[in-house]
Amino acid sequence: MTIVPDFDLTPYTTFHVPARASWFAEYGTVDELLSILSDSRFRGMPFLHIGGGSNLLFTKPFEGLVLHSAMRGMSTRNDISPTESILEAESGLNWDEFVRRSIDEGLYGLENLAYIPGEVGASAIQNIGAYGVEAKDFIHSVSTIDTATGNERVFTPEECRYAYRDSIFKHVAGRYIVTKAAYRLSRVKKFTLEYGPLKELASDPGLTASKVYDRVVNIRRSKLPEPSELGSAGSFFKNPVVPVDKFNRLKSEYADIPSYEAPAGIKIPAGWLIEHAGLKGHRIGGAEVYPKQCLVIVNTGSATARDIVDLYTFIQRTVERIYGIRLEPEANIV
Ligand code: EPU
Repeated sequence: MTIVPDFDLTPYTTFHVPARASWFAEYGTVDELLSILSDSRFRGMPFLHIGGGSNLLFTKPFEGLVLHSAMRGMSTRNDISPTESILEAESGLNWDEFVRRSIDEGLYGLENLAYIPGEVGASAIQNIGAYGVEAKDFIHSVSTIDTATGNERVFTPEECRYAYRDSIFKHVAGRYIVTKAAYRLSRVKKFTLEYGPLKELASDPGLTASKVYDRVVNIRRSKLPEPSELGSAGSFFKNPVVPVDKFNRLKSEYADIPSYEAPAGIKIPAGWLIEHAGLKGHRIGGAEVYPKQCLVIVNTGSATARDIVDLYTFIQRTVERIYGIRLEPEANIV
């Protein structure tokens, strides 16, 4: 267990924007977590639980306790079905390592979610998604500590109320701390290859999960910045979902606007809206609209949180003025 006052969080976020917290505590077991939660130094203090910091922007010093899980265990259960296994990992395990280990175990399902920055705990909170797959498609259960009682509570996928980049955990922020996520994965070969650049893999009779994994890594590397080289929070905005009649009006004006069916209407790629609003490569201070994928804001080296806030609000205003659509940040702005 590590507890440090006046902590420099900068290396804990992938934006690499200077950030500090009054306290930082990292735990390696649930008992350590419980002892931190009952520590009198932190009583009544706001707290924020972070994962890999890949979706976070601190706009001012955090006057409270930042918690991080260093629990990285993993276990497999093969006795639940003849064709499926449960792979359960603790919250602090690196997500991509978890995906690679699922492939090493001969399990199918997570290969499309290759190379997403972050940790297992956040995968279950954020319902991470890419290339036609979302975490919720495979989540079997999510174990948490209820901070109100100190007791464990295990959520079923239905109780997690998953939606696009959303779950119950984002609506009762701070109430539950995710300690483990269990994924139900297939031992029988089975792929999701509907996403454009993955389609051609369907004709490969020798296709393996590793090949899909490698293809996804290549696509991501070609479009998205490498967090170790260029600071960002991945997609800065969510893709907006608009009512069908609104979409039809836009389509009559912008014939080539891309779209996808979504549960509550039509989803439009925010990256397209930002690019066609003329904002590709637009800069404010050290913050830039990433030219290879306009949904991403990057820190070109010396961006302050102010630069990023100014750029994202400028993007919001511009897109709203042209298309009448308000983009909502996907990144968690603290
Ligand atoms: N597009 C543009 N210009 C851009 C970016 C996108 O015109 O600068 C258009 C293109 O038409 C493209 C379409 O938007 O075909 C979709 O782009 P892409 O396939 O790159 O996906 P996205 O909708 O921009 C979402 C996720 C990504 C995920 C990809 C692939 C969100 C907020 N983002 O992006 O997730 O990797 O799909 O499935 O839903 C993340 O959440 O951090 C993330 C990277």
